[in-house]
Amino acid sequence: MSEKENIITIDGPAGVGKSTVSRRVAAATGFAYLDTGAMYRAVGLYLKRHAIDLDNPKEIAYILKTLRLELVPAVNEHSDVGVFINGEDVSDPIRTPEMAMIASRVSAVPVVRDILTEIQRGYGKKGKIVAEGRDTGTVVFPDAAYKFFLDAKPEERARRRVEQLQKKGIAASLQQILELTLERDKNDRSRSVAPLKQADDALLIDTTTITLEAVVLRILGEIAKKDGR
Ligand code: DC
Repeated sequence: MSEKENIITIDGPAGVGKSTVSRRVAAATGFAYLDTGAMYRAVGLYLKRHAIDLDNPKEIAYILKTLRLELVPAVNEHSDVGVFINGEDVSDPIRTPEMAMIASRVSAVPVVRDILTEIQRGYGKKGKIVAEGRDTGTVVFPDAAYKFFLDAKPEERARRRVEQLQKKGIAASLQQILELTLERDKNDRSRSVAPLKQADDALLIDTTTITLEAVVLRILGEIAKKDGR
């Protein structure tokens, strides 16, 4: 199997169902799940804790040399990946709406993208992966054989996010999450390096009115079709 067939990419904006879908596709195919958003969140938390100026790439590059970032596979398809920075478990603190916004800001810094893209490609060389994020099909793994781009109406994405946060015991209002979702969309789509966009060869799936289970089945069907199965 070539490197191309080892990689499935699933990109799209916040709250579109990427994580749930990616985890299920990984479980069904036996591929490992790579949550690239978790990496941007962890870097965001680290830079925030060190009160690093995001306009100072040298300082960012310097401090990131002291960061040891580890991703631990999720225990099952319903849970998030474990994220550790320098041995500390930050899996929960990185999942707040505040950290999502900080991750979005940090992800526009070119030196951060360079470092994380390199690490992500390293995972791609090690084995079969489902890579989930914003630029996995366009920049990180442009040669991946299976590429998907999920999209949905912002109101529906915000509703799903609120539901997700509430399950974790984090209080959130629909209006507030909708505003944050729209702001994050704008940041992620308009940044100059690796903006959120559909790869030319990615299949677009609108998840607004279909269940995530149906999205998973569609993706698995497309992969089987490409494989000639
Ligand atoms: O998928 P997520 O909500 O955990 O991602 C958090 C932020 O990280 C997102 O708003 C933009 C950034 N991100 C990115 O720029 N590129 C990726 N491949 C993944 C996430």
